Amino acid sequence: MSRKILVTSALPYANGAIHLGHLVEYIQTDIWVRFQKMSGNECWYVCADDTHGTPIMLRAEKEGITPEQLIARVHGEHSRDFAGFLVGFDNYYSTHSPETRDCANDIYGKLKAAGLIEVRSIEQYYDPVKQMFLPDRFIKGECPKCHAKDQYGDNCEVCGAAYAPTDLIEPFSAVSGAKPELRHSDHYFFKLSDPRCEAFLREYTSSGVLQAEAANKMQEWLGAPGDNKLSDWDISRDAPYFGFEIPDAPGKYFYVWLDAPIGYMGSFRNLCAQKGLDFDEFFKKDSSTELYHFIGKDILYFHALFWPAELQHAGYRTPTKIFAHGFLTVDGAKMSKSRGTFITAESFLNSGMNPEWLRYYFAAKLSNTMEDIDLSFDDFVARVNSDLVGKYVNIASRAAGFIAKRFNGQLAPADDNLPAIRAIRDAAPRVAELFEAREFSKAIREIMALTDGANQYVDSVKPWELAKQEGKDSELHAACSNALNLFRLLTVLLKPVLPATAAKVEAFMNLAPLSWADAGTLLAGGHAINAYSHLMTRVDGKQIEALIEANKQSLAPATAEAPAKPAAKTAEKKEAPAGTDGLCTIDDFMKVDLRIAKIVNAEHVDGADKLVRLTLDIGEENMRNVFAGIKAAYDPAQLVGRLTVMVANLAPRKMKFGLSEGMVLAASDLDAKTPGLYLLSPDSGAQPGMRVK
Ligand code: 2FM
Ligand code: ZN
Repeated sequence: MSRKILVTSALPYANGAIHLGHLVEYIQTDIWVRFQKMSGNECWYVCADDTHGTPIMLRAEKEGITPEQLIARVHGEHSRDFAGFLVGFDNYYSTHSPETRDCANDIYGKLKAAGLIEVRSIEQYYDPVKQMFLPDRFIKGECPKCHAKDQYGDNCEVCGAAYAPTDLIEPFSAVSGAKPELRHSDHYFFKLSDPRCEAFLREYTSSGVLQAEAANKMQEWLGAPGDNKLSDWDISRDAPYFGFEIPDAPGKYFYVWLDAPIGYMGSFRNLCAQKGLDFDEFFKKDSSTELYHFIGKDILYFHALFWPAELQHAGYRTPTKIFAHGFLTVDGAKMSKSRGTFITAESFLNSGMNPEWLRYYFAAKLSNTMEDIDLSFDDFVARVNSDLVGKYVNIASRAAGFIAKRFNGQLAPADDNLPAIRAIRDAAPRVAELFEAREFSKAIREIMALTDGANQYVDSVKPWELAKQEGKDSELHAACSNALNLFRLLTVLLKPVLPATAAKVEAFMNLAPLSWADAGTLLAGGHAINAYSHLMTRVDGKQIEALIEANKQSLAPATAEAPAKPAAKTAEKKEAPAGTDGLCTIDDFMKVDLRIAKIVNAEHVDGADKLVRLTLDIGEENMRNVFAGIKAAYDPAQLVGRLTVMVANLAPRKMKFGLSEGMVLAASDLDAKTPGLYLLSPDSGAQPGMRVK
């Protein structure tokens, strides 16, 4: 009987590009969904952009647009990237939608009626300049444990300590640089520590909905029975905030993580309206449909504790299973922007590389555990070229031409008893079990062993030799027809992974869309095929090099720009743009983003006469690297710890020594009557990241 299944992948934040790390999850989910659909199940795959929260609000502000404009643009970019990788959502929606708002209000109202919402006054850091409460990630200061400077409000990246923002020494706002003040505010809490939640979660998390590793982690988080470790969850944030205002609490907004999983419901509700589906059938308590969430292991807490507890106590069904995967490393290391291995989906697609190569590679590496997977480019090239092109596509390319030229495009009946054919038909249910269990690497290994068997058959009958011999027509016809039947069966098994290639095969072999049941059938004698055109090209190592280079260069400036140079030198009158009076308007000036920068490191650059490499903190998540032509005037050791002014929005410039991400300002005498170079310094009290205007 056909199952009814609803599947989700985690909702990506609407303020960043999709990269290969994200794609592990979407490709994993998509393969599973395509397998379900091919198997005849009613399976719906929904997702959405995760659009709310402070980072999105501030990002829009920085770009000078509204949050609505930002999320609309990013929705377009994400939709384009997912389509490029053949991720076939039935609905790709947004959490900033009436459906998600209604579902959030509904769940909140039901939790409140159940006595599971509590209002409490809390003390939190407030930025008096920006006039907003600061999330932990927007407060920085000195680590209370190891005294490293510029650490975030929740944990130290140097010693790994976790702490409260109030523990930071000399905290400052990463938004404005101001010294934050502690202020009181009423917050809304979901009472996760309530005995009802605890009892439910103990039962739920040990009922087989989680992978073994995840279930163990949950027991740690729950604490031993009788020792409830769950704390209540703060689900509100104060204005200004981009999100949904809480219905009975003006000025209070749902925290982004409250409405994010509810976005799954919102997206599905929207799909139900489009397709005439019954939302309640999928979400009512004790629904007989299945609900699966594919997520990264970093967001288990939200999906395995908060979300099921919310659903349960608001009277809805709970997820059937939660499937967590590991992270992606590239060539054994964390993805890195400077090494060019932080590869965006867009750059991969623009490079002309085939997205199915990556789908196949990820499938060949994925299991149903939470282990990290590594994208090794040598292995990638080897697998694509040897498995897909050398083994799989090769079967069709060795047989199709003879059928067209010698047999009018028509197949002879296939040999039902051919061992290679029987092997595939026998293996299909086993491969199906592996897809169902998300053991994709095992499925691929099995399919490739069957592909080897098919090639051994072709090698044994040698159609190219039969074609040269008199009177061997019927042998040639049978050999090529068997080979093409083998190819069709293998295509069925690979279709969840390679949907575009399968579509080309369906067109070339004149087939109705292949379903899993087709792995048990053969084509009738006389079946006519169309002309063969090449199905897949080989990957060239140079394409990978170019891709890595493109991702390094994506930070480089559009136009050549001199590296860090003293500001005074840019102000020479003769450089006034043609056709103007040499004056700049206030608007022109405001385009230059001048910031207070703290020099956290300064060093000589090997092989450069004039340059000093500066590491600058301007209150952003990442430090800036700037090469400044100040070596003649300053000893690097003198510079560490002092403040200066930098142009923060200068297009980055790729130099022989590395990337220069801005320019520091210094004064010098244009006519060189007074020698020297003088780095600007702000008055005392200025903080890294403050805007200079
Ligand atoms: O971690 C993240 O990227 C979140 N945007 C995932 C949200 S998943 C779901 F809960 F919406
Ligand atoms: Zn520390």
